[in-house]
Amino acid sequence: MSTPVKKVPIHLQSSQNRLIIKNGKVVNETGILEDDVFIEDGIIKQIGKNLIIPGGTRVIDARGRYILPGGIDPHTHFEFDFMGTRSVDDFYQGTKAAIAGGTTMIIDFVFPKKGESILDKYHEYRQKADDKVCCDYGLHVCLTSWNDRVRDEMKTLCQQHGVNSFKMFMAYDFMLNDEELYSAMEACKNLGALAQVHAENGSIIRKNVEKLKAQGVTGPEGHELSRPESVEAEAVNRACVIAKAADSPLYVVHVMSKSAGNVIREHRDGGAQVWGETLVAALGTDGSHYKHTCFHHSAGHILSPPLRPDPTTPGYLMNLLAQDVLQLTGSDHCTFKKEQKAMGQGDFSKIPNGVNGVESRMAVIWEKGVHSGLIDPSRFVAITSTNAAKLFNVYPRKGCIAVGSDADIVIWNPAKTQTISAQTHHLAVDFNIFEGMVCHGVPEFVIVNGRVCVDDENLRAVQGHGTFVETPVNAPFIYAPEKLEEIFESKKNGVLDEVELHNKLAKIEFEPKTCFTPTLPDSAIGTPSCRGARPEGQRNIQDSTFSISEEMDTERKSCIKVKNPPGGKSSGFW
Ligand code: URP
Ligand code: ZN
Ligand code: ZN
Repeated sequence: MSTPVKKVPIHLQSSQNRLIIKNGKVVNETGILEDDVFIEDGIIKQIGKNLIIPGGTRVIDARGRYILPGGIDPHTHFEFDFMGTRSVDDFYQGTKAAIAGGTTMIIDFVFPKKGESILDKYHEYRQKADDKVCCDYGLHVCLTSWNDRVRDEMKTLCQQHGVNSFKMFMAYDFMLNDEELYSAMEACKNLGALAQVHAENGSIIRKNVEKLKAQGVTGPEGHELSRPESVEAEAVNRACVIAKAADSPLYVVHVMSKSAGNVIREHRDGGAQVWGETLVAALGTDGSHYKHTCFHHSAGHILSPPLRPDPTTPGYLMNLLAQDVLQLTGSDHCTFKKEQKAMGQGDFSKIPNGVNGVESRMAVIWEKGVHSGLIDPSRFVAITSTNAAKLFNVYPRKGCIAVGSDADIVIWNPAKTQTISAQTHHLAVDFNIFEGMVCHGVPEFVIVNGRVCVDDENLRAVQGHGTFVETPVNAPFIYAPEKLEEIFESKKNGVLDEVELHNKLAKIEFEPKTCFTPTLPDSAIGTPSCRGARPEGQRNIQDSTFSISEEMDTERKSCIKVKNPPGGKSSGFW
């Protein structure tokens, strides 16, 4: 029997609860400022220069470094029972590795088997995760069947258990049909939750698998052949059409191909409230590995939807992130050891689907995005942290460096490099899809709720230090964009200046746990790759206190007035 792990009590001297980070560049999605950051009792208490702080406060010198909001990985599968086995990185190992890489919050998926109670499964997940997590975490819930009980339990989860997002599958044995998808999306919308889809055409995949096997294709190369780009793109399009019919906002998880990204662009251009998440796997590597002659190597890269053989895919997806066609990056961390992947030797359809990424996500995206010049540090923050916080409604508690926010912070040295390897990673899995990749950017310090958990590159994660973070329904960036629109209209008309704008937003939107992105001044609007960025030194209007109180009214708003926020379309905010 395993011994229950107790939360580590924080009976620290008050001086140990205080920390000041000096001389660094504070990066928010809205811009970069040279400011000091003072933290006390797990919260950011002051930001600015020449701060007056208590004696004995620990000082970290961040000269030459960026001070980033801790990464939020919106897509992990720790200790997940799937395809006849269980993913090997559990909530302890997985969150420890997340912290090592600069991620300070993860959102995992409650995954009931077809017909199981989603509520019971939620409690099971809470039980396995609560005492293990080294950083904060939230939970999405998968809908692997559709009936009245599921509908009722969704309501309970939203209203009593801090869940605000549900994932539906268009592939696998537990996929929902179009009518069920419609009803599930409609239910999400009525609850103020966010509908997510795994978009692949399950029926075509089934037929393709049969055909390939009949032709004698048994190796891992059969995986991508059975689920090519068109199979993903068709399902993304169908999901968008169904969401539109159900008048539901939609979040497409793990967008893996150029065609799928293009479909999202089309629907967003048409005004749909659709957001896309791509994976660090898709940005950092490609499907050429499925041709590798070593089974372990190619099987080690198998996930669904698969990596694409087109070598221009990673750069293309990064550009879609730069252009705000896609908004988030996850890892879909779901790891199986070589012996588990071997369950599919002789039958590619039995290779457990899933790859690593939670630890390397920040470094790989920095390398492929910022270091390569496709995005700036502010956009990096948006796609690795802020946008997840906004969509899953934990902003501005998470996802920004602001007074009043949780002290989840990464001190990032862009001048140092790291080489990714299974020999040195902090995961339980024995394989790494980024093996040998050299990345610029090292998280020298990672602060999790005020505790220094990576200290000058030494990992000091603490089991049980994290807690479950409730994600409230009715995310204003999804369901109340018109409230924000009014205020931004006043700013545009010159009625409000930047500070007044902030004060107004702080009063109104911060109450229901929301936030804002200001309209960029013309001077700050550059190429699409600089979207969301401000020139260094420009005042960041997030520097203010905020309060978090009751939920907003539950009346559902339609998606018509403001086009696809949070994505920065016509209204200049999201
Ligand atoms: O292959 C994958 N993506 N494994 C995890 C399950 C899922 O669909 O996200
Ligand atoms: Zn999926
Ligand atoms: Zn997944």
